Amino acid sequence: MYAKSGKRVGPWSAPVFYNPNASMTRDISLGVVGVLGSHPNMLDVMCGIGARGLRIAVESDASEVVINDVNPDALELAYRSVEANGVVGKVDVQSVGANALCAAYDYREGFDYVDLDPFGSAAPFVATALLAVKRGGVLGVCSTDLQTFVVTGLMRFTDCTTRGTCTHLVLKKWG
Ligand SMILES: C[S@@+](CC[C@H](N)C(=O)[O-])C[C@H]1O[C@@H](n2cnc3c(N)ncnc32)[C@H](O)[C@@H]1O
Repeated sequence: MYAKSGKRVGPWSAPVFYNPNASMTRDISLGVVGVLGSHPNMLDVMCGIGARGLRIAVESDASEVVINDVNPDALELAYRSVEANGVVGKVDVQSVGANALCAAYDYREGFDYVDLDPFGSAAPFVATALLAVKRGGVLGVCSTDLQTFVVTGLMRFTDCTTRGTCTHLVLKKWG
């Protein structure tokens, strides 16, 4: 836990984001990638220090993992972890605004799995994130609290998992 002026604060107040309590949502991402056929590719749109994308690169048979964030301090840590885990050739580290990055892909050239994990509501990012999902692929939306899903309007989807302090929603893109 990060300490600021002697006080322990939550991960959202730290210079770079890492939430150990979100490990189950990372398990869910890994499980989803595991059922997407052989050698899927993955985009971790807002990777923080890269924990989610890194786990997929190391623990699944993903062919390619793109991790992205706009926080340079977080990305530096992410890149060090990429090196430490020996997955430099498999993981591409990017630093582009989420919407601009996702809009550069489409259903043919995009990803089997896209994971979106913003601070607060995912509403400003969901539509463009879907552009980057390949036909038949999956968009995962992560949130530390259920309320942001309600605000986003995502709660009407039925396969929303709600466990502990984190939530993860999985949407499949058809034809
Ligand atoms: C909740 S954290 C991500 C945590 C990470 N997915 C994990 O599993 O540990 C949200 C991240 O989004 C990044 N971020 C915020 N706005 C962004 C944007 N427009 N484009 C890309 N990244 C952004 C922040 O720097 C922060 O690291």
